[in-house]
Amino acid sequence: TKVLVLNGPNLGRLGRRQPEIYGSTTHAELADLCVGWGRDLGLEVEVRQTNHEGEMLDWLNAAADDDTPVVLNAAAWTHYSYAIFDACAQLTAPLVEVHISDPHQRPEEFRHTSVVTPYAAEVVAGHGVDGYRMALEVVARA
Ligand code: DQA
Repeated sequence: TKVLVLNGPNLGRLGRRQPEIYGSTTHAELADLCVGWGRDLGLEVEVRQTNHEGEMLDWLNAAADDDTPVVLNAAAWTHYSYAIFDACAQLTAPLVEVHISDPHQRPEEFRHTSVVTPYAAEVVAGHGVDGYRMALEVVARA
C-alpha cells in the first residue's frame, strides 16, 4: 500500500526549529525514518513537506482522487485552515493526524482546535517523531 506522509509549514526546519519543543531530528532524517518504518509495515511511504498551502491542497486532492491513505501534520494550518478542513473531508482512505508536540498541552489557545481531527481515524500527538511510526501503524492496521 502506498501512503503519503504530508508535512505542513515550518516543518522543513525540523532539527533547527525550537528543538526544545520539536526535537533534534531533521526533516530529511524524519523522511528516512518514515520510509524505513513503512517498509517494516509493508507500506510504500512517500514523505513531502511544503510551506505553501495550495501545494498541500493539491496533494490532498490527488490523494482523494487516488484513494491514498494520508498521515498529515498540517502544522499551524491545523488550527485555522478551512481549506485544509474541506480537503480532508474529501479523503476516502484513512487519514491519521500527527503532531510532534501535543498542541492541547501547549499554552497558546489557538493550538487547542484542529480542523483535521473531525476527519482523522486517529490523532497521534506528543510522541515526538516516533508519532509518525505510530501513525503508520494505524494505517497498516486499517
Ligand atoms: C505541530 C503543532 C502545531 O501547533 C504547530 O503549529 C506546528 C507543529 C507539531 O507537530 O507539534 O507547526 O503540528
